[in-house]
Amino acid sequence: MTDDPARFPFPPAGDVRPPDAYHDVLHARAPHPVQLSSGQPALLVTRHEDVTAVLGDDRFSRAGYTELARPLFARKTESVLLATADAPDHTRRRRAILPAFTARQVRLLRPRLEALAEELLDDLTAGATGGETDLVGGFTVPFPMRVICEVLGVPFEDSAMLRAEVDILMSTSGHTREEVAAAQARTDEYFTALVAGKRRAAEAGTPADDLLTRLALRPDDDPDQRLSDREVVSLGSGMLMAGYETTGNSFGMCVLLLLRHPDLVKRLRAEPARIPAAVEEMLRFSSLNNTGGAPHLVTEDTVLGGCPVAAGRIVVPLTDTANRDPAVFTDPDAFDPDRADVGSHLAFGYGRHLCLGAELARAELQIGVGALLRRFEVLELAVAEDELDWRRTMFINGVWQLPVRWTAAGAAAVPAAEGRRG
Ligand code: HEM
Repeated sequence: MTDDPARFPFPPAGDVRPPDAYHDVLHARAPHPVQLSSGQPALLVTRHEDVTAVLGDDRFSRAGYTELARPLFARKTESVLLATADAPDHTRRRRAILPAFTARQVRLLRPRLEALAEELLDDLTAGATGGETDLVGGFTVPFPMRVICEVLGVPFEDSAMLRAEVDILMSTSGHTREEVAAAQARTDEYFTALVAGKRRAAEAGTPADDLLTRLALRPDDDPDQRLSDREVVSLGSGMLMAGYETTGNSFGMCVLLLLRHPDLVKRLRAEPARIPAAVEEMLRFSSLNNTGGAPHLVTEDTVLGGCPVAAGRIVVPLTDTANRDPAVFTDPDAFDPDRADVGSHLAFGYGRHLCLGAELARAELQIGVGALLRRFEVLELAVAEDELDWRRTMFINGVWQLPVRWTAAGAAAVPAAEGRRG
């Protein structure tokens, strides 16, 4: 193992793929030394087997890392209360939120998700039979934003303002620390007032049926399970970000992959039952986290990838390299919606921090893709692909806009003047 001064995170690829350097560090097949932007030395953990070992073992501590270093981006660590915590705090917080995101709960939500997707596409097409539009601004981001606002109980009319704040909070290098701190303060103030309003409504006998109300009114007779006011506020803003920023950008990349594969579009239109498997491959194939993964402090001497790793070292497990590990995935760099091994992907993480919203995200992506395929007969990029503006200065990868040209399904059979919805 040679010493390598490479700075990490690596520059984003400006594509759905992870940075090219990930290929090299994966095929080096051993934890790879880098220097984090915080200045500390760390080891990148790249193989599927080692990444799941780190994410599945309490001896790799997130809180330990958080205590000794500043995070990879400028937000306060309190704003990512789940991602940076270990048991028992992490378990207590996760347990409070989990009931809202179970597979059963998501099944119950599905009809509402279908209706929301159709409503947004109605607004986007506005009765026309064809045109050009930005799908990120009109569909891929507003769809998960509407959903998470409804689940949490955040008024959707506040979402444009909140999106502007999240664009600052989730930037890696586009804003100064002062700007990030100010956005954090404004967001905290907003959620503090929102939660207080929910408590007042409940006291007045008119509690809303939403997650923030349930968290705010949570019985606190068991002190071990209690959430502080500060935790409720932080979990509220954290879940808003986790709920739309990830899914919205992932959805944009899924659509881009569809646009690159017209053959796949045809097949999915003919056989919509294949959409869920195709979405899983889109998740495996695309790289969502521009900063790689959560750093962990090693608390006991261990072995990773056949190399001894001493207590006190920092390791960063990379799910994006694990998703391209040839030991698990056949021809891993190929986009193959029929692959049999897709179920092992780690796009939603692994272990105790496994994405809490994974079932909801899957439902949104499946429903969103299905709605687009039904609605549009023609859907193609309206600009050259190399003109797309990638989110290089952001924590979450994706495109800022996705300009497309579309023709509504069935439009050819209908005189243009009548304007028909697909
Ligand atoms: C395509 C969409 C999504 C992807 C790819 C995704 C991916 C991830 C990943 C990889 C993690 C683990 C990160 C880590 O190890 O620190 C995570 C955690 C999390 N996700 Fe998602 N996510 C998505 C959508 C959502 C949605 C819709 C929600 C809804 C609120 C959500 C809520 C969370 C929460 C709360 C955590 C923290 C879990 C914990 O630390 O215990 N995510 N997500």
